Amino acid sequence: MYTTMHHMLKMAKKERKGVGAFNIHALEVVPVMIRAAEELNAPVVLQASVSTAKYIGFDLLAAIVKNIADKASVEVALHLDHAKELKDIQDALEGGFSSVMIDGSYLSLDDNISITCKAVELAKRYGASVEAELGIVGRGKVINKYPYTNPKDAKIFVDKTGVDALAVGIGTHHGQYQAKTDISLSALSDIHAQVGIPLVLHGGTGVKEEDLADCISLGMHKLNFGTELNVSWVRKAKEIFNDAMPDDSIRELLIPCNEAMKRTIQNKIGLVRK
Ligand code: 13P
Repeated sequence: MYTTMHHMLKMAKKERKGVGAFNIHALEVVPVMIRAAEELNAPVVLQASVSTAKYIGFDLLAAIVKNIADKASVEVALHLDHAKELKDIQDALEGGFSSVMIDGSYLSLDDNISITCKAVELAKRYGASVEAELGIVGRGKVINKYPYTNPKDAKIFVDKTGVDALAVGIGTHHGQYQAKTDISLSALSDIHAQVGIPLVLHGGTGVKEEDLADCISLGMHKLNFGTELNVSWVRKAKEIFNDAMPDDSIRELLIPCNEAMKRTIQNKIGLVRK
């Protein structure tokens, strides 16, 4: 079933489980991502960055996800990841995305609240869910000194904006590095004490698998994984394409790469649905 994040996150909170949110890197992987969730009977969020959505086309991506999701036995949401411009949010909603993220984390608290309120207003017209971000999730160079999300600001932010889910900074970074990240569960616990809505883990690739259960028990019910999926696909592709002949079927070459990504997704789903 094609849906927003509302119901799946509400249920995840009630059942003290997580929902895996997986980044789409190309249209080819969409069917296998949904199949991965169906086989484990788990709800799933498929998410696309603004660049991926523009590359594929907002409406084409939404039409394909919706087509498969409508026939699926589990809840599937299509979410726009890290949009900074309201124009991109508008394009995603018009194109048929069921959920959007407005990322005003680089702004002052007041400006972040202001742009997030505008995104919530827009999304309401389409019945879509909204995630926002407060605090810093690193990207690129790993810096250990990012300040964690301020719990009091998080409460003010959630009360004023009415978002469905909030991404917070607890020491995670987007991307894959040599070592996994040391996250701060005490910072997360302080935020969780102030904020009742589902929190979102960004940078799931770098988080130690043994920390995921604690993240969920401290209120993180949407857990994002992106880079690790890409890594598993590309690793398999290097192996397969190295031995490929020019007249080999592209379809046959892509299937093992998609299956490698599926195994990574299913491993993460297993960990967040425990
Ligand atoms: P990773 O690529 O580090 O798993 O992060 C994914 C993410 O948080 C997408 O917003």
